[in-house]
Amino acid sequence: MSVTNSLLVTGAAGQLGRRVVELLLESKAGRVIAGTRSPEKCGDLAKRGAIVRKVDFDEPHTLSDAIAGVDRVLLISTDSMELGRRGQQHERAIGVLVEAGIKQVVYTSLARAEKGSPVLLAGDHISTEKSLAESGLGHTILRNNLYTDLLMMSLPKAVAMGKLFAAAGTGGAAYVTREDCARAAAAALSAAFEGKRTLELTGPSVVTHADLASLASELSGKRVDYVPMEPDALAGAMVTQGMPEAVAKLWVSFDVGMARGFFGPASTAFHELTGKAPTGVAEFLSTHRQAFVAAANG
Ligand SMILES: NC(=O)c1ccc[n+]([C@@H]2O[C@H](COP(=O)([O-])OP(=O)(O)OC[C@H]3O[C@@H](n4cnc5c(N)ncnc54)[C@H](OP(=O)(O)O)[C@@H]3O)[C@@H](O)[C@H]2O)c1
Repeated sequence: MSVTNSLLVTGAAGQLGRRVVELLLESKAGRVIAGTRSPEKCGDLAKRGAIVRKVDFDEPHTLSDAIAGVDRVLLISTDSMELGRRGQQHERAIGVLVEAGIKQVVYTSLARAEKGSPVLLAGDHISTEKSLAESGLGHTILRNNLYTDLLMMSLPKAVAMGKLFAAAGTGGAAYVTREDCARAAAAALSAAFEGKRTLELTGPSVVTHADLASLASELSGKRVDYVPMEPDALAGAMVTQGMPEAVAKLWVSFDVGMARGFFGPASTAFHELTGKAPTGVAEFLSTHRQAFVAAANG
Protein backbone atom coordinates (compact mmCIF):
# COMPACT_ATOMS: atom_id res chain seq x y z
CA MET A 1 0.00 0.00 0.00
CA SER A 2 1.23 3.48 -0.82
CA VAL A 3 2.38 5.51 2.18
CA THR A 4 0.28 8.37 0.87
CA ASN A 5 -2.97 6.65 1.82
CA SER A 6 -5.09 8.87 4.03
CA LEU A 7 -6.74 7.06 6.91
CA LEU A 8 -9.46 8.62 9.06
CA VAL A 9 -10.32 7.22 12.48
CA THR A 10 -13.57 8.53 13.96
CA GLY A 11 -14.03 8.58 17.74
CA ALA A 12 -10.32 9.31 18.21
CA ALA A 13 -10.76 10.62 21.76
CA GLY A 14 -12.36 7.32 22.84
CA GLN A 15 -10.32 4.49 24.30
CA LEU A 16 -10.39 2.33 21.16
CA GLY A 17 -10.02 5.16 18.64
CA ARG A 18 -7.08 6.73 20.43
CA ARG A 19 -5.24 3.40 20.52
CA VAL A 20 -5.88 2.78 16.81
CA VAL A 21 -4.46 6.22 15.97
CA GLU A 22 -1.35 5.46 18.08
CA LEU A 23 -0.83 2.12 16.33
CA LEU A 24 -1.22 3.68 12.87
CA LEU A 25 1.30 6.40 13.75
CA GLU A 26 3.76 3.84 15.14
CA SER A 27 3.54 1.69 12.00
CA LYS A 28 3.68 4.73 9.68
CA ALA A 29 0.63 3.35 7.91
CA GLY A 30 -0.07 6.55 5.98
CA ARG A 31 -1.49 9.99 6.60
CA VAL A 32 -3.44 9.59 9.83
CA ILE A 33 -6.46 11.77 10.57
CA ALA A 34 -7.95 11.64 14.05
CA GLY A 35 -11.64 12.59 13.93
CA THR A 36 -13.34 13.45 17.19
CA ARG A 37 -16.04 15.58 18.80
CA SER A 38 -13.32 16.88 21.12
CA PRO A 39 -10.18 17.92 19.18
CA GLU A 40 -8.85 19.53 22.38
CA LYS A 41 -8.46 16.02 23.87
CA CYS A 42 -6.18 14.90 21.01
CA GLY A 43 -3.32 17.41 21.32
CA ASP A 44 -0.88 14.61 22.18
CA LEU A 45 -1.87 12.72 19.02
CA ALA A 46 -1.30 15.89 16.97
CA LYS A 47 2.18 16.24 18.48
CA ARG A 48 2.93 12.69 17.36
CA GLY A 49 1.92 13.42 13.77
CA ALA A 50 -1.83 12.92 13.51
CA ILE A 51 -3.98 15.53 11.79
CA VAL A 52 -6.85 16.24 14.19
CA ARG A 53 -10.23 17.20 12.77
CA LYS A 54 -13.64 17.68 14.32
CA VAL A 55 -16.04 14.79 13.59
CA ASP A 56 -19.45 14.53 15.20
CA PHE A 57 -22.03 12.27 13.54
CA ASP A 58 -24.75 14.52 14.96
CA GLU A 59 -23.29 17.32 12.82
CA PRO A 60 -22.72 15.48 9.50
CA HIS A 61 -21.04 18.50 7.86
CA THR A 62 -18.09 17.97 10.24
CA LEU A 63 -17.58 14.52 8.71
CA SER A 64 -17.95 15.89 5.15
CA ASP A 65 -15.22 18.45 5.91
CA ALA A 66 -12.97 15.93 7.67
CA ILE A 67 -12.96 13.35 4.87
CA ALA A 68 -11.57 15.65 2.20
CA GLY A 69 -8.77 13.63 0.57
CA VAL A 70 -9.38 10.55 2.73
CA ASP A 71 -9.17 7.03 1.22
CA ARG A 72 -10.19 4.73 4.07
CA VAL A 73 -12.27 5.31 7.20
CA LEU A 74 -12.58 3.50 10.53
CA LEU A 75 -16.10 4.23 11.71
CA ILE A 76 -16.16 3.54 15.44
CA SER A 77 -19.64 2.85 16.77
CA THR A 78 -20.93 5.55 19.10
CA ASP A 79 -21.83 5.06 22.74
CA SER A 80 -25.43 6.25 22.99
CA MET A 81 -27.48 4.09 25.35
CA GLU A 82 -30.73 5.23 23.74
CA LEU A 83 -31.80 2.27 21.59
CA GLY A 84 -31.94 3.18 17.89
CA ARG A 85 -29.82 6.32 18.22
CA ARG A 86 -26.47 4.73 17.37
CA GLY A 87 -28.00 3.24 14.21
CA GLN A 88 -29.28 6.68 13.14
CA GLN A 89 -25.91 8.32 13.79
CA HIS A 90 -24.07 5.62 11.82
CA GLU A 91 -26.56 5.77 8.93
CA ARG A 92 -26.02 9.52 8.61
CA ALA A 93 -22.25 9.02 8.66
CA ILE A 94 -22.41 6.30 5.99
CA GLY A 95 -24.45 8.66 3.79
CA VAL A 96 -21.59 11.17 3.95
CA LEU A 97 -19.00 8.47 3.15
CA VAL A 98 -21.00 7.41 0.08
CA GLU A 99 -21.04 11.02 -1.19
CA ALA A 100 -17.27 11.17 -0.77
CA GLY A 101 -16.65 7.84 -2.56
CA ILE A 102 -14.56 6.35 0.26
CA LYS A 103 -12.69 3.19 -0.84
CA GLN A 104 -13.10 1.18 2.35
CA VAL A 105 -15.03 1.61 5.58
CA VAL A 106 -14.07 -0.45 8.62
CA TYR A 107 -16.91 -0.60 11.14
CA THR A 108 -16.85 -1.82 14.75
CA SER A 109 -19.96 -3.95 15.14
CA LEU A 110 -21.20 -6.43 17.75
CA ALA A 111 -20.68 -10.20 17.94
CA ARG A 112 -23.26 -12.07 15.85
CA ALA A 113 -25.24 -8.89 15.10
CA GLU A 114 -28.00 -10.94 13.52
CA LYS A 115 -31.77 -11.24 13.60
CA GLY A 116 -32.74 -13.16 16.73
CA SER A 117 -29.98 -11.71 18.92
CA PRO A 118 -31.44 -10.97 22.37
CA VAL A 119 -28.82 -8.25 22.95
CA LEU A 120 -30.80 -5.02 23.07
CA LEU A 121 -28.11 -3.04 21.24
CA ALA A 122 -27.95 -5.57 18.40
CA GLY A 123 -30.64 -3.70 16.43
CA ASP A 124 -28.39 -0.64 16.03
CA HIS A 125 -25.55 -2.77 14.67
CA ILE A 126 -27.86 -4.80 12.41
CA SER A 127 -29.24 -1.59 10.89
CA THR A 128 -25.73 -0.17 10.42
CA GLU A 129 -24.52 -3.36 8.77
CA LYS A 130 -27.57 -3.16 6.47
CA SER A 131 -26.76 0.49 5.62
CA LEU A 132 -23.21 -0.56 4.75
CA ALA A 133 -24.42 -3.46 2.60
CA GLU A 134 -26.81 -1.14 0.73
CA SER A 135 -24.25 1.67 0.39
CA GLY A 136 -22.19 -0.13 -2.24
CA LEU A 137 -19.04 0.93 -0.35
CA GLY A 138 -16.22 -1.54 0.21
CA HIS A 139 -16.34 -2.47 3.87
CA THR A 140 -14.89 -4.59 6.64
CA ILE A 141 -17.30 -5.24 9.48
CA LEU A 142 -15.43 -6.15 12.65
CA ARG A 143 -17.94 -7.79 14.94
CA ASN A 144 -16.11 -7.18 18.20
CA ASN A 145 -16.90 -9.69 20.94
CA LEU A 146 -17.21 -8.45 24.54
CA TYR A 147 -14.15 -6.59 25.80
CA THR A 148 -12.11 -8.65 28.26
CA ASP A 149 -11.28 -5.31 29.90
CA LEU A 150 -14.83 -5.02 31.24
CA LEU A 151 -14.17 -8.02 33.50
CA MET A 152 -11.87 -5.74 35.51
CA MET A 153 -15.04 -3.96 36.66
CA SER A 154 -17.39 -6.91 37.20
CA LEU A 155 -15.12 -9.64 38.60
CA PRO A 156 -13.59 -7.71 41.53
CA LYS A 157 -17.16 -7.07 42.76
CA ALA A 158 -17.79 -10.83 42.55
CA VAL A 159 -14.66 -11.45 44.62
CA ALA A 160 -15.88 -9.00 47.27
CA MET A 161 -19.24 -10.85 47.46
CA GLY A 162 -17.82 -14.36 47.00
CA LYS A 163 -20.52 -14.82 44.33
CA LEU A 164 -20.68 -14.12 40.62
CA PHE A 165 -24.32 -13.49 39.68
CA ALA A 166 -25.25 -13.73 35.99
CA ALA A 167 -28.05 -14.88 33.71
CA ALA A 168 -25.75 -16.57 31.21
CA GLY A 169 -26.58 -20.16 32.17
CA THR A 170 -23.78 -22.38 30.95
CA GLY A 171 -23.02 -20.08 28.01
CA GLY A 172 -20.01 -17.83 27.70
CA ALA A 173 -18.27 -15.28 25.52
CA ALA A 174 -15.14 -15.35 23.38
CA TYR A 175 -13.93 -12.16 25.12
CA VAL A 176 -11.44 -10.05 23.17
CA THR A 177 -9.24 -7.34 24.66
CA ARG A 178 -9.72 -3.73 23.61
CA GLU A 179 -6.04 -3.70 22.67
CA ASP A 180 -6.61 -6.61 20.26
CA CYS A 181 -9.67 -4.83 18.83
CA ALA A 182 -7.45 -1.78 18.22
CA ARG A 183 -4.74 -3.92 16.58
CA ALA A 184 -7.29 -5.64 14.35
CA ALA A 185 -8.93 -2.34 13.37
CA ALA A 186 -5.55 -0.72 12.59
CA ALA A 187 -4.60 -3.74 10.48
CA ALA A 188 -7.91 -3.73 8.59
CA LEU A 189 -7.72 0.03 7.97
CA SER A 190 -4.17 -0.03 6.66
CA ALA A 191 -4.56 -3.22 4.57
CA ALA A 192 -5.00 -3.08 0.80
CA PHE A 193 -8.40 -4.83 0.99
CA GLU A 194 -11.14 -3.00 -0.93
CA GLY A 195 -13.89 -5.67 -1.00
CA LYS A 196 -16.67 -6.53 1.46
CA ARG A 197 -16.25 -8.82 4.44
CA THR A 198 -17.71 -9.49 7.87
CA LEU A 199 -15.38 -10.85 10.55
CA GLU A 200 -16.26 -12.10 14.04
CA LEU A 201 -13.41 -10.69 16.15
CA THR A 202 -12.84 -12.81 19.24
CA GLY A 203 -10.28 -13.93 21.75
CA PRO A 204 -8.87 -17.46 21.65
CA SER A 205 -11.75 -19.34 23.33
CA VAL A 206 -15.22 -19.13 24.83
CA VAL A 207 -15.07 -18.49 28.58
CA THR A 208 -18.12 -19.30 30.74
CA HIS A 209 -19.14 -17.69 34.02
CA ALA A 210 -18.10 -20.88 35.84
CA ASP A 211 -14.64 -20.38 34.27
CA LEU A 212 -14.66 -16.70 35.32
CA ALA A 213 -15.58 -17.59 38.91
CA SER A 214 -12.70 -20.02 39.13
CA LEU A 215 -10.26 -17.52 37.54
CA ALA A 216 -11.40 -14.87 40.03
CA SER A 217 -10.84 -17.36 42.89
CA GLU A 218 -7.34 -18.19 41.66
CA LEU A 219 -6.33 -14.56 41.23
CA SER A 220 -7.72 -13.34 44.54
CA GLY A 221 -7.17 -16.40 46.73
CA LYS A 222 -10.82 -16.06 47.82
CA ARG A 223 -13.59 -18.50 46.96
CA VAL A 224 -15.99 -17.22 44.27
CA ASP A 225 -19.03 -19.25 43.17
CA TYR A 226 -21.02 -18.69 40.01
CA VAL A 227 -24.73 -18.20 40.83
CA PRO A 228 -26.85 -18.58 37.67
CA MET A 229 -30.03 -16.47 37.79
CA GLU A 230 -33.12 -15.95 35.67
CA PRO A 231 -32.84 -12.75 33.55
CA ASP A 232 -35.85 -10.99 35.12
CA ALA A 233 -34.70 -11.82 38.66
CA LEU A 234 -31.19 -10.50 37.91
CA ALA A 235 -32.48 -7.28 36.31
CA GLY A 236 -34.81 -6.80 39.32
CA ALA A 237 -31.91 -7.26 41.75
CA MET A 238 -29.84 -4.71 39.82
CA VAL A 239 -32.66 -2.18 39.96
CA THR A 240 -32.98 -2.77 43.71
CA GLN A 241 -29.25 -1.99 43.98
CA GLY A 242 -29.93 1.38 42.29
CA MET A 243 -29.28 0.69 38.61
CA PRO A 244 -31.72 2.40 36.21
CA GLU A 245 -34.12 -0.21 34.79
CA ALA A 246 -33.14 0.42 31.14
CA VAL A 247 -29.45 -0.10 31.95
CA ALA A 248 -30.19 -3.26 33.95
CA LYS A 249 -32.19 -4.72 31.07
CA LEU A 250 -29.45 -3.83 28.61
CA TRP A 251 -26.77 -5.41 30.79
CA VAL A 252 -28.80 -8.59 31.35
CA SER A 253 -29.48 -8.89 27.63
CA PHE A 254 -25.74 -9.52 27.12
CA ASP A 255 -26.00 -12.45 29.56
CA VAL A 256 -28.98 -13.82 27.66
CA GLY A 257 -26.93 -13.46 24.46
CA MET A 258 -24.24 -15.59 26.08
CA ALA A 259 -26.77 -18.18 27.27
CA ARG A 260 -28.05 -18.47 23.70
CA GLY A 261 -24.60 -18.74 22.10
CA PHE A 262 -24.44 -15.29 20.50
CA PHE A 263 -20.93 -14.56 21.83
CA GLY A 264 -19.21 -17.59 20.35
CA PRO A 265 -17.59 -19.56 18.94
CA ALA A 266 -14.04 -18.21 18.88
CA SER A 267 -12.75 -17.26 15.44
CA THR A 268 -9.38 -16.96 13.71
CA ALA A 269 -10.05 -13.39 12.45
CA PHE A 270 -7.55 -11.69 14.77
CA HIS A 271 -4.77 -13.95 13.55
CA GLU A 272 -5.80 -13.47 9.91
CA LEU A 273 -5.68 -9.68 10.26
CA THR A 274 -2.57 -9.30 12.39
CA GLY A 275 -0.59 -12.55 12.09
CA LYS A 276 -0.60 -12.78 15.89
CA ALA A 277 -2.48 -14.79 18.52
CA PRO A 278 -5.16 -12.94 20.53
CA THR A 279 -4.78 -12.49 24.29
CA GLY A 280 -6.84 -14.87 26.41
CA VAL A 281 -8.88 -13.93 29.48
CA ALA A 282 -6.58 -15.72 31.96
CA GLU A 283 -3.49 -14.05 30.46
CA PHE A 284 -5.14 -10.61 30.49
CA LEU A 285 -6.33 -10.89 34.08
CA SER A 286 -3.01 -12.19 35.37
CA THR A 287 -1.20 -9.32 33.62
CA HIS A 288 -3.51 -6.95 35.53
CA ARG A 289 -3.53 -9.02 38.72
CA GLN A 290 -2.35 -6.20 40.99
CA ALA A 291 -5.11 -3.82 39.85
CA PHE A 292 -7.61 -6.70 40.01
CA VAL A 293 -6.78 -7.55 43.62
CA ALA A 294 -6.73 -3.85 44.59
CA ALA A 295 -10.19 -3.37 43.07
CA ALA A 296 -11.50 -6.49 44.84
CA ASN A 297 -10.18 -5.22 48.20
CA GLY A 298 -11.25 -1.62 47.62
N1 LIG B 1 -17.14 -4.84 22.58
C1 LIG B 1 -17.43 -4.32 23.75
O1 LIG B 1 -17.44 -4.98 24.81
C2 LIG B 1 -17.76 -2.86 23.85
C3 LIG B 1 -17.85 -2.25 25.10
C4 LIG B 1 -18.13 -0.90 25.17
C5 LIG B 1 -18.36 -0.19 24.01
N2 LIG B 1 -18.28 -0.80 22.79
C6 LIG B 1 -18.51 -0.07 21.53
O2 LIG B 1 -17.23 0.19 20.95
C7 LIG B 1 -17.04 1.61 20.82
C8 LIG B 1 -15.59 1.96 21.11
O3 LIG B 1 -15.27 1.50 22.40
P1 LIG B 1 -14.43 2.40 23.41
O4 LIG B 1 -13.94 1.47 24.43
O5 LIG B 1 -13.49 3.27 22.70
O6 LIG B 1 -15.60 3.32 24.03
P2 LIG B 1 -15.48 4.80 24.67
O7 LIG B 1 -14.10 5.04 25.19
O8 LIG B 1 -16.62 4.92 25.60
O9 LIG B 1 -15.70 5.77 23.46
C9 LIG B 1 -16.97 6.15 22.98
C10 LIG B 1 -16.79 6.49 21.52
O10 LIG B 1 -18.01 6.96 20.93
C11 LIG B 1 -17.67 8.05 20.06
N3 LIG B 1 -18.84 8.90 19.84
C12 LIG B 1 -19.82 9.18 20.74
N4 LIG B 1 -20.72 10.05 20.19
C13 LIG B 1 -20.29 10.31 18.94
C14 LIG B 1 -20.78 11.13 17.87
N5 LIG B 1 -21.89 11.88 18.02
N6 LIG B 1 -20.08 11.17 16.71
C15 LIG B 1 -18.95 10.43 16.54
N7 LIG B 1 -18.44 9.62 17.51
C16 LIG B 1 -19.10 9.58 18.69
C17 LIG B 1 -16.56 8.77 20.82
O11 LIG B 1 -15.82 9.63 19.98
P3 LIG B 1 -15.18 11.06 20.42
O12 LIG B 1 -15.32 11.19 21.91
O13 LIG B 1 -13.75 11.02 19.98
O14 LIG B 1 -15.96 12.07 19.65
C18 LIG B 1 -15.74 7.57 21.30
O15 LIG B 1 -14.87 7.08 20.30
C19 LIG B 1 -18.05 2.24 21.79
O16 LIG B 1 -18.41 3.56 21.38
C20 LIG B 1 -19.20 1.27 21.70
O17 LIG B 1 -19.99 1.49 20.53
C21 LIG B 1 -17.96 -2.11 22.69
